[in-house]
Amino acid sequence: MSDKLLEVKGLTACVEDEDKEILHGLDLTIRAGETHVIMGPNGAGKSTLGSTLMGDPRYKITGGSIEFQGEDITELTTDKIAKMGMFLSFQNPIEVPGITLANFIKTAIENKTGERLRFWDFKKQLSETMKILNMDESYADRDLNVGFSGGEKKKAEILQLLMLKPAFAILDETDSGLDVDAVRTVSQGIEEYKKTVGGALMIITHSTRILEALDVDATHVLVDGKIVANGDASYIDEINENGFEKFLK
Ligand SMILES: Nc1ncnc2c1ncn2[C@@H]1O[C@H](COP(=O)(O)OP(=O)(O)O)[C@@H](O)[C@H]1O
Ligand SMILES: [Mg+2]
Repeated sequence: MSDKLLEVKGLTACVEDEDKEILHGLDLTIRAGETHVIMGPNGAGKSTLGSTLMGDPRYKITGGSIEFQGEDITELTTDKIAKMGMFLSFQNPIEVPGITLANFIKTAIENKTGERLRFWDFKKQLSETMKILNMDESYADRDLNVGFSGGEKKKAEILQLLMLKPAFAILDETDSGLDVDAVRTVSQGIEEYKKTVGGALMIITHSTRILEALDVDATHVLVDGKIVANGDASYIDEINENGFEKFLK
């Protein structure tokens, strides 16, 4: 049996209401447990790739295919894809008034497993996980991301990652805009995910700081809606030194 977790072939995608193509035939394969890094200039389509994999209705898939866990998910909706074990941490997490961080996570886990969680078991696990992330417990009862600082929003995303335990997580610039301490905390959270869940990661980043404690299996350069180059972990430093110039037409 193949251990392919995600196989993207010739993926093209447009903005739903504008017919503007953003992904122009993208190929990518990720196996279970691997860590892949996506780099690329601003506007290349990195966030669009993450959202499209996750079934975001803002993007229309016009060609190619996405296979996840051996199943064709090209046409599936976000809720089904999430249930299969895919997770996306947003570049800009949205504020959701009216639902607390704790309830949001509890509902997401219950939707995924189809089983009701016992309140105290959940609470205990949540507060233990918040400790790992240096999050004050009071955040659990605050409305999701409302009034959270940039760093707190990113920590709340990693909290979801650790609580949901997905087989595959896409982290979209989870480290950008964070101070040194917050980057370290977020990195520790990601390490904890690797250690306890062992899932695969697709990390969209411009910096190596978040990767220091991780074994990177492959690096991909995304330019103009396509993967234009692939390399190993050492590729990251090379790109950070030389920039994306040589990949641009
Ligand atoms: N929902 C959208 N509506 C209109 N344009 C979009 C939308 N999403 C992305 N784009 C455009 O697609 C291109 C790629 O964006 P994005 O995926 O955010 O790039 P990256 O994350 O690599 O910086 C940009 O030109 C952006 O303006
Ligand atoms: Mg982006």
